[in-house]
Amino acid sequence: MGEAAVVLAVNGERYEAAGVDPSTTLLEFLRTQTPVRGPKLGCGEGGCGACVVLVSKYDPATDEVTEFSASSCLTLLHSVNHCSVTTSEGIGNVRDGYHPVQQRLSGFHASQCGFCTPGMCMSIFSALVKADKATDRPTPPAGFSKLTSSEAEKAVSGNLCRCTGYRPIVDACKSFAADVDLEDLGLNCFWKKGDEPAEVSKLPGYNSGAVCTFPDFLKSEIKSSAEQANGAPVAVSDDGWYHPKSIQELHRLFDSSWYDENSVKTVASNTGSGVYKDEDLYDKYIDIKGIPELSVINKSSKGVEFGSVVAISKAIEVLSDGNLVFRKIADHLNKVASPFVRNTATIGGNIVMAQRRDFPSDIATVLLAAGSTVTIQVASKRQQLTMEAFLEQPPCDSKTLLLSIFIPDWSSDGITFETSRAAPRPFGNAVSYVNSAFLARTSLDSESGDHRIEDICLAFGAYGVDHATRARKVEELLKGKSLSSSVILEAVKLLKATISPSEGTTHSEYRMSLAVSFLFRFLSSLANDPNAHAKVDVPNGSYPNGTMNGSTENSPELLKVDSNDLPIRSRQEIIFTDEYKPVGKPIKKAGAELQASGEAVYVDDIPAPKDCLYGAFIYSRHPHAHVKGINFKSSLASQKVITVITAKDIPSGGQNIGSSFPGLGDEALFADPIAEFAGQNIGVVIAETQRYAYMAAKQAVVEYSTENLQPPILTIEDAIQHNSYFPVPPMLAPKPVGDYNLGMSEADHKILSAEVKLESQYYFYMETQVALAIPDEDNCITLYSSTQIPEVTQNVVARCLGIPFHNVRLITRRVGGGFGGKAMKAIHVACACAVAAFKLRRPVRMYLDRKTDMIMAGGRHPMKVKYSVGFKSDGKITALHLDLGINAGISPDVSPSMPLPIIGALKKYNWGTLAFDAKVCKTNVSSKSAMRGPGDVQGSFIAEAIIEHVASVLSVDTNTIRRKNLHDFESLKVFYGDSAGEASTYSLVSIFDKLAASPDYQRRAAMVEQFNSSNKWTKRGISCVPITYGVTLRPTPGKVSIMNDGSIAVEVGGVEIGQGLWTKVKQMTAFGLGQLCPDGGECLLEKVRVIQADTLSMVQGGFTGGSTTSETSCEAVRLSCAALVERLKPIKENLEANG
Ligand SMILES: Cc1cc2nc3c(=O)[nH]c(=O)nc-3n(C[C@H](O)[C@H](O)[C@H](O)COP(=O)(O)OP(=O)(O)OC[C@H]3O[C@@H](n4cnc5c(N)ncnc54)[C@H](O)[C@@H]3O)c2cc1C
Ligand code: FES
Ligand code: FES
Repeated sequence: MGEAAVVLAVNGERYEAAGVDPSTTLLEFLRTQTPVRGPKLGCGEGGCGACVVLVSKYDPATDEVTEFSASSCLTLLHSVNHCSVTTSEGIGNVRDGYHPVQQRLSGFHASQCGFCTPGMCMSIFSALVKADKATDRPTPPAGFSKLTSSEAEKAVSGNLCRCTGYRPIVDACKSFAADVDLEDLGLNCFWKKGDEPAEVSKLPGYNSGAVCTFPDFLKSEIKSSAEQANGAPVAVSDDGWYHPKSIQELHRLFDSSWYDENSVKTVASNTGSGVYKDEDLYDKYIDIKGIPELSVINKSSKGVEFGSVVAISKAIEVLSDGNLVFRKIADHLNKVASPFVRNTATIGGNIVMAQRRDFPSDIATVLLAAGSTVTIQVASKRQQLTMEAFLEQPPCDSKTLLLSIFIPDWSSDGITFETSRAAPRPFGNAVSYVNSAFLARTSLDSESGDHRIEDICLAFGAYGVDHATRARKVEELLKGKSLSSSVILEAVKLLKATISPSEGTTHSEYRMSLAVSFLFRFLSSLANDPNAHAKVDVPNGSYPNGTMNGSTENSPELLKVDSNDLPIRSRQEIIFTDEYKPVGKPIKKAGAELQASGEAVYVDDIPAPKDCLYGAFIYSRHPHAHVKGINFKSSLASQKVITVITAKDIPSGGQNIGSSFPGLGDEALFADPIAEFAGQNIGVVIAETQRYAYMAAKQAVVEYSTENLQPPILTIEDAIQHNSYFPVPPMLAPKPVGDYNLGMSEADHKILSAEVKLESQYYFYMETQVALAIPDEDNCITLYSSTQIPEVTQNVVARCLGIPFHNVRLITRRVGGGFGGKAMKAIHVACACAVAAFKLRRPVRMYLDRKTDMIMAGGRHPMKVKYSVGFKSDGKITALHLDLGINAGISPDVSPSMPLPIIGALKKYNWGTLAFDAKVCKTNVSSKSAMRGPGDVQGSFIAEAIIEHVASVLSVDTNTIRRKNLHDFESLKVFYGDSAGEASTYSLVSIFDKLAASPDYQRRAAMVEQFNSSNKWTKRGISCVPITYGVTLRPTPGKVSIMNDGSIAVEVGGVEIGQGLWTKVKQMTAFGLGQLCPDGGECLLEKVRVIQADTLSMVQGGFTGGSTTSETSCEAVRLSCAALVERLKPIKENLEANG
């Protein structure tokens, strides 16, 4: 029977989606079929939280609404039929007023580029909704919620922010917690820290339940459709979405003639697609969540049975209320993914992924150790298997159904259960390198007092084998033994021999050593006291509450930390004078509330113009090869290809150019005819939607030939061997200092030809590269681009199209994170869009998926450095020589300018004499570019590595060597020339002395020392690192216009990338025009609007970077204001004189 369309409420509005492709995600629907733009696409794999929304479900039987946060990028639209979805603009917006979550995030300065902020809002909001619904909690005081501080700290776990740092975000969360000490919260706009008392009445008021999460109309609709649906046969929508209501119905679907495992996808919550990306589109889905039998939860004295589609978060809730083993499992499950993934992700889905696809599951490992069993259905047969037997079976076929999982109840007597995981992030949202779970039954020998192991189960997973396994041999060895050091040693040795990651596993040695250390830790504590594991172990570098103020410094607790109780506190003091007010005042960031509500418009938020098409790159997978042709696999996704744009589509008179830095060189837009690096753009697939374009690009099969081509040059060593370099223009070449040989001859000690290597880094801006190109009349084009360099982008697009610069209008309102990556790398995307739009005479948008962005972006320059350093016995360095190898990749980009900042940062120390040879290597890898402190980071890192090396040779404290080699003003002038500035402004030495001697540093250093002396295996460190930074100012334009109503529009050359440029510019405008106002200008703040960068309005805007664009933009504004004041002041005086 055909069913009506998907019906849902979005922020209280009814939406009906008929005929929608069943592979459409909720995020795609919200962003393309509704006005909602709050949920953003950051990763598309459940890993960043930018897309988080609140989903509410209504149960007509109980008349209850349940709410939970979910990642809308993984949630399929059809799975939220009859749900209500609330997004950030739904809880508050500019017209209806902002929600206190949005106001507090803004007031605690918790938003920079703002791309993550709507997702943050929704995670906090859903934590509030959940806590406030708890009936067993006391009513909180007015203005607070029932949330606890500890819950508040975890409310945004899983939400990434690449700009702000989490303290202000967590402060905003904690401001809702009834048990918070408001005085502990950081700098904010609500009270003047230190001067005014922190009171809840000063915060934007919070009333639980003020937002309706489920509209009445939808409740009525659900009630009436529930009545009609009673007894209805297999639910089949017209859209290819099947949701059987029983296992029999499911089997009927499996047996239908149309069922084909390659084109039909069976899903529970579809979060698995965040791990294993769909390679093709599916036109049919079977949703098993509607089968009641799969949702059961049965608790009995024998154990707990979970139906396979029970969400992980629900399982945590149930298990947390059980015995020690259950609680430990719940603790571990709390580290799986993030709250918004766990709320929908099912336990069954996880275990099937582990069984069928070798997924490095945490859940399979812990359930294996806990002696769980599963019930599966194969055709009409049900089988009950141990978890071990199930995992060891050959991968189950697509018709095998996991029905339930049973975890036995282990009485706590004599039972010890412990789980561990090592992952890039210890508290979740990262798949493990290794996980383990151990269950042991011990008995106490009353005579010897020893603990004897009666039975033991040791499960390990994720270390590079097909699935979680038991270390049977080690178990056998330990059974019946009392634990002595020799038994432990034997067990550890045996484990080492047993565990072998399969070939090709990354970090296999590391994984093995982790597995061994988990077992060692477990057995040692078991030997001492089997109950010792009640506490969770110390994560490196964390302290328990209370130790930061020194009060428990010497307590053994110093060495332990409860991971559930991490201290996240901030302390920041701002000294502010009125002299230039409101400049320098810590005011709310311009547009922060708009960002929080999701109304701030980024490039992908601009409503699609009529006939808009979408593009996705096909990139080379070969580092050096002729591109012979592009074909497409026969698939559903390839049917979506409208056309492919390649080099041949560049208009006549245009150039194959995708980026260019003035004076340094160009990079091609398309590989033509040779792909010169893996990741190079070969062509752009054009399709009707962005998702179709992504999927269609995956279907491309590129034919390569390496005939008559040299092997690629991939490394710095290869480049040196082949003399493959980019020249460094003389004006960008750093200068050596003094006579190196003489310096070396004065040295008492020498380190010769030591090496430091630095790898690359990816920018990880939350908004990937994006541009929208709209063809205009008379060979003109308008581009919206997320770029830090609008002027250069405009110039390169014009050259690429072969049209005058004034034909290209490039607009940038705001950038969702740049970090240098939205400079040269953004040009490429703008050019590709422009060529496609020009050719097709239709608007074209490209918003790169995260993987493509990571592959093409380039990132930081990898480096290999050889150094020789001479020094005296007292630590004074006399000479340093460096051979710098910089891997620049395929094109010059900004690389020839890199030696300058590298050496510039390195000169922070007085090396006596300094000589170097810098090679900017041309290689067949993606071109590396400016990234967060380009050169300065590397230079500083190299300098510190050398200082530490010297300190270790002399066996002295590193700070002693640092201090010994800091410049005095004389040597500063020798190393930096004119940039050294005035002697009176050189403050590095005094700051260093002050900090190194500060009680806080001393106390922390003492803590580190104490920790290290009492810990054999884990060590901590503390550093006090000076830096110098060469500030360069570039001329930047600005324009201030006073409108007829007194409101003020300001344009500047700089771009708002989250750094707060608009806020500073607003403050400067208010200050600059302040002479026209009685209060010195503060009243003007509300009247100023800084508008988007537009290359035809504000020409030669330059670029945003180097930490000075706000200041130079402000200076331009100050000069504009001065001119206006000069003109307006006499008029004002005249008007005042005449009443
Ligand atoms: C960002 C992120 C981080 C993660 N981190 C971790 C982690 O740290 N540790 C960890 O263990 N896991 C982690 N996961 C995995 C997560 O637990 C699984 O994605 C989730 O549990 C799958 O459940 P689902 O309902 O979404 O399954 P789906 O995606 O719907 O299904 C997954 C597969 O299982 C099949 N399937 C589902 N249910 C059944 C059933 N009952 N019978 C037969 N086949 C079935 C489906 O057909 C599909 O092939 C992470 C996932 C994401 C997205
Ligand atoms: S979690 Fe959905 S976009 Fe990142
Ligand atoms: S403000 Fe969080 S990513 Fe930019």
